[in-house]
Amino acid sequence: MLYLIGLGLADETDITVKGLEIVKRAERVYLEAYTSILLVDKEKLESFYGRDVIIADRETVETGSDDILQDAQEKDIAFLVVGDPFGATTHTDLVLRARELSIPIQSIPNASILSAIGSTGLQLYNFGQTVSMVFFTDNWRPSSFYDRIKENVSIGLHTLVLVDIKVKEQSYEDMARGRKVYQPPRYMTVAQCASQMLEIEDERKEQVYAPDSLAVGAARVGSKEQRLACGTLQELSQADLGPPLHSLVLLGKRAHDLERDYIRAFAIDEKTFDASWTKYYQGP
Ligand SMILES: C[S@@+](CC[C@H](N)C(=O)[O-])C[C@H]1O[C@@H](n2cnc3c(N)ncnc32)[C@H](O)[C@@H]1O
Repeated sequence: MLYLIGLGLADETDITVKGLEIVKRAERVYLEAYTSILLVDKEKLESFYGRDVIIADRETVETGSDDILQDAQEKDIAFLVVGDPFGATTHTDLVLRARELSIPIQSIPNASILSAIGSTGLQLYNFGQTVSMVFFTDNWRPSSFYDRIKENVSIGLHTLVLVDIKVKEQSYEDMARGRKVYQPPRYMTVAQCASQMLEIEDERKEQVYAPDSLAVGAARVGSKEQRLACGTLQELSQADLGPPLHSLVLLGKRAHDLERDYIRAFAIDEKTFDASWTKYYQGP
């Protein structure tokens, strides 16, 4: 059996009892370590599970899936995914390959950023499409997120913006020369995300949002060090929410008064919050 096991969002103790029992008895345990990260390192997981954990980077999962699946017809293989195995990450290729090899599959769900973002106080029912924000480079500034946000904004829904993480990435030059040299990991912050959003609004000028539109920055959700900050995109582009991981929610115009009361408690500046609320969010 191939078990896809969700680890939850923060540390080694977020695994479910069901997941832990499988990890303890599996033949091999892989940790998918490139679409998200836990806020603790691999050694901490290993000592809690009492097992060695094999790091599965993008290359291993995308090109070496047969190594992961080796003997899974007879033995149990655990594939650990941070968050929920099917939450904002899909390992469809691995599952399809397992199916081709007649390997049974079971998924063990866990908390995902897609559900835990509800701890901002914003109603999950009022969210539209989730979008991803990648690190811009000098000559690559993809703005498809802007079109998705525009659709959400047009019907008043909140938008969850998941931000880029770069783990074990090669520079273009090293890749072109076939050198297996990896860049240090990089994690996008709420401030970078808000700045890039404003940059694209400035470029496209379709008034999807403005520097004084409200958003909520969420850092290390689910951990003791969780931090939420609510402010205008301009304010958030200057805010420091500390270490990774970060996400941002752009507030939709259909925001309810109860949602306002909840998020106002972590406003960076209550005056600008109130001014923006009155300008954009107070329905007729
Ligand atoms: C591919 S998605 C997450 C997939 C994961 N399987 C899940 O279900 O949560 C990774 C992105 O989600 C966001 N994220 C994940 N965990 C987070 C956390 N604890 N706090 C804030 N944002 C988080 C970050 O923007 C991160 O770059």
